[in-house]
Amino acid sequence: MRIGLCYDLKEAVHLEGIHPEDALEEYDSPATVEAIAAAIEAQGHSVVKLGGGEEFLANIIRQEKFDLVFNIAEGLGNYRSREAQVPAILEMLNIPCSGSDPQCLAISLDKPLTKKILSASGILTPRWQVASRKEQLSEIDWDGFPFPAFVKPAYEGSSKGIGLASRVDTPEQAEELVAALLERYQQPAMVEEFISGDDITVGVVGNSSPEVVGIMRVLPRDKRDCFIYSLEVKRDWERLVDYECPARLEKTTFDKIADASLKVFEVLGCRDFSRVDFKLGSDGVPYFLEINPLPGLNPKSGDLPIMAGRMGWTYRGLISAILNAALERYPIECCLK
Ligand SMILES: Nc1ncnc2c1ncn2[C@@H]1O[C@H](COP(=O)(O)OP(=O)(O)O)[C@@H](O)[C@H]1O
Ligand SMILES: [Mg+2]
Repeated sequence: MRIGLCYDLKEAVHLEGIHPEDALEEYDSPATVEAIAAAIEAQGHSVVKLGGGEEFLANIIRQEKFDLVFNIAEGLGNYRSREAQVPAILEMLNIPCSGSDPQCLAISLDKPLTKKILSASGILTPRWQVASRKEQLSEIDWDGFPFPAFVKPAYEGSSKGIGLASRVDTPEQAEELVAALLERYQQPAMVEEFISGDDITVGVVGNSSPEVVGIMRVLPRDKRDCFIYSLEVKRDWERLVDYECPARLEKTTFDKIADASLKVFEVLGCRDFSRVDFKLGSDGVPYFLEINPLPGLNPKSGDLPIMAGRMGWTYRGLISAILNAALERYPIECCLK
C-alpha cells in the first residue's frame, strides 16, 4: 500500500515573536520519522513523507491518493485543538488516517475538559481549578481546596511548563504561578490537587478490543526529593529515572490501572493507540492525569516504545500494530486499492 507519513519536525516549525524555551518540545526529530518509515516499509508498504503544516497541505493536494496517512503531526500554534489539524484535513479529503479522530485529539489536549468528561464517567482524577485570565484569579474559591497543589498549563504536553516549582503550598503561591504560566504559555493554567505517589503510564493499542501494551512505573534514581516527571527529567531520562515495566504492583492495583486505562480510551473514543498517565496515590488508587492519543514514538526515548520493548514487542511490531489497527477501520478503502 501507499502510506503517507506526516509529522512536524522541530527544525521545520517556525516560531514568531517571543516563546518559552520549551516551545518546540513536543515536535519530532528526523530519527523518529526515519524509524517509523522503516517500520512501515518493513511491512511491504511504500512510504511518502509529507511533512507538516503548509508543506503537508501542498503535498497532500499534489500527490496521488494514499491508502492511509500515518500521522504523528502535533499541529501548530498553541491552540488546544492543534493535534486535530492534520486529521481534520484528512477527514475532509476522505483520506484514511492513523490514530484518533479530530474530536478525540482536540478534547484530549484540553486537560480540564478531559477531566470533566472522565470524572462524569466515574474515572478518578485529582481535584482541579482553572483560570483563563489573570482577573479570574481573585474569583477562585480556595475554601476546602487541598494543598499542596500542582500548577500546569492546561493545553500542553511533554511536561512543558512543569518542574519542581510546579508544586505549591498555598493559594498565594498557586495564584502567582498561574499568573506566570498565563503570561508565558498564553493559554489557561490549572491548579490540581497534588498527588504524591508513583508516576504510572499505560500504553493501549487496538480498536474493537483494545489491549494494554504495558503498565510502566517511572522511578527516580534520586529518591531524596519529591519526584516530578518534569521537562528536565524527560530530557535527561537516561541518567535520572528507571522505567519499571511491567510495574511491580499488587494484582488488584495493576488491574485497577488497566481497567481505568481502557475505560478512558473508550470514553474518549480513542483509536489505534494512546498512552494514559496516572499518579498512583498512597491509597492505592490510580488518579488520572491526562491522556496522550498521539504519544511520542521515538524508538529510543518514547515512553510507549520503551514500554512496548520491555513487554517483548519490537519497535517494528509496535508500529505495525498501530498501522494495522488503523487499516482495519477502513475495510472498503483498503480493498479498493
Ligand atoms: N496533580 C499532580 N500531582 C502530582 N504530580 C503531578 C500532577 N500533575 C502532574 N504531575 C507531574 O507532572 C508530570 C507531567 O504532568 P502531565 O499532566 O502528565 O503533563 P504532560 O502532558 O506535560 O505530560 C506528571 O507525570 C507528574 O510527575
Ligand atoms: Mg504526561
